[in-house]
Amino acid sequence: MKDIVSLCKRRGFIFAASEIYGGINGFWDYGPLGIELKNNLRDRWWKDMVITPPIGPDGSPVEIVGVDSAIIQNPKAWVASGHVGGFSDPMVDCRETKKRYRADHLFVMVPEDKSTEKPWATYLDGEEDSEKTKRLKKAGHKNTDPAAYQTTEINRLGVENYKYVLGPDAKEPGTLTEPKAFNLMFQTYVGAMQSEDSIAYLRPETAQGIFLNYKNVLDSSRVRIPFGIAQIGKAFRNEVNPRNFIFRSREFEQMELEWFCHPDEAKMWRDFWFAERQRFWKSVGLSSDNLQMRDHDSDELSHYAKAGLGTADIEYRFPFTAPGFGELEGIAHRCDFDLTQHQEHSGVKLEYMDPTDSKIRYMPHVIEPAAGLSRGVLALICEAYTVDANRPSGIYLNFHPAMAPKKAAILPLTAKEEHVPLAQKLYMDIREDFAVDLDIKQNIGKRYARQDEIGTPFCFTVDNDTVNDQTVTVRERNTMAQERIHMDKVRDFLHENIKKRG
Ligand code: GAP
Repeated sequence: MKDIVSLCKRRGFIFAASEIYGGINGFWDYGPLGIELKNNLRDRWWKDMVITPPIGPDGSPVEIVGVDSAIIQNPKAWVASGHVGGFSDPMVDCRETKKRYRADHLFVMVPEDKSTEKPWATYLDGEEDSEKTKRLKKAGHKNTDPAAYQTTEINRLGVENYKYVLGPDAKEPGTLTEPKAFNLMFQTYVGAMQSEDSIAYLRPETAQGIFLNYKNVLDSSRVRIPFGIAQIGKAFRNEVNPRNFIFRSREFEQMELEWFCHPDEAKMWRDFWFAERQRFWKSVGLSSDNLQMRDHDSDELSHYAKAGLGTADIEYRFPFTAPGFGELEGIAHRCDFDLTQHQEHSGVKLEYMDPTDSKIRYMPHVIEPAAGLSRGVLALICEAYTVDANRPSGIYLNFHPAMAPKKAAILPLTAKEEHVPLAQKLYMDIREDFAVDLDIKQNIGKRYARQDEIGTPFCFTVDNDTVNDQTVTVRERNTMAQERIHMDKVRDFLHENIKKRG
């Protein structure tokens, strides 16, 4: 992961936000190539959902429309959605170090014999095998055999035992507090006065902006149930432990679909979206080996999913979770929770009336495929990162050509007068259709290495032969194989090859 993070900075994909001031934990900026990659993934999702939505079980395309709602909404909306009362993680504070940990991420190693002779060491999720945890095991327990411990989430440990527990960064045992709820929503004030009445929240999910516009969309467009409303945008959560680069950050982007259907059809549509969403992630280049579906355990379910068919996550094997997996997208059956809540709290009727029979009225159920755009970008980068000792750069990014920030580079072999104008002409010919780089300076080997590192699938080199016969060399990123094609064929070549797996 360290190598991936450093490549992202070196080549202009992702930078720490406010880096010159030492950064700010949980916030990231996208650089020139990162924004292209993110836009490619975002545009593909939008196209697959809104422009050319998938073919439904009846053989016709399903109906989906888009919205772009405000980040700040009336705070009553967040009361109705349950976020003011319940969008919280149980947190444990350390009185000694003043650090705060998510209780479900903090594990205690309880000796099998419950011996209290030595403090009970703790570690954070994902740090089980770290050098620090190994050291703690040795220092804290007389027995270093892992079988001699039971590892327990601190949530599940009786508070009477907290006095034996040594916090992850503490020197003395017994400094951790009982878990307390901590709301993850960022608060702000709207207007000139800062008072209880002017409190507002930055949205912690894009989904509620969709529910708030459900009636507007129904009243203003021709969609009828079953149909979907899609939205892509920023969400904000004051995560207690932002970590793993952009995987868990405090500002991130989501791509969410709320699919409204008849309650009796919820299962059919849930299965439909399970299959569609896995297909999507494979189509942008994630390999089946690195993807899995996982049903939520009952104690993981969100408040809105408890009554229904549950939630399943599409998970990706990130380098920091391997050999395990981390969540990329959640697909939840939200039942009629949100519309019912908004109806009750706003007093506006949100029931659906069947257009063919006004006596048939019901509150639609919702299937929600909720994907992380930022996490998707991270998964694409992790998947693409390929070590190859046989090339000068030592690595290349094996992006699916459709996701690659640059589809091609045009490289005059030398900065000589006869090569450059031809390269410029080719660049001007194809830049309307594709994101291309015209790179003139440096020796050709270094320029190939740079394009490998940013994952450009094809390089077209203009040389002396181009002057004579208008052919250029095409170099393919993964195989480094070269062939010659006529300059006039470059556009067709790219159209054909961008769709194929690179
Ligand atoms: N509307 C449902 C919802 O928001 P979620 O599972 O909390 O569900 C959906 O979020 C997706 O958003 C996740 O699968 C993940 O990809 C992304 N996500 C959630 N929290 C995130 C964070 N702190 N940083 C980056 N991505 C996050």
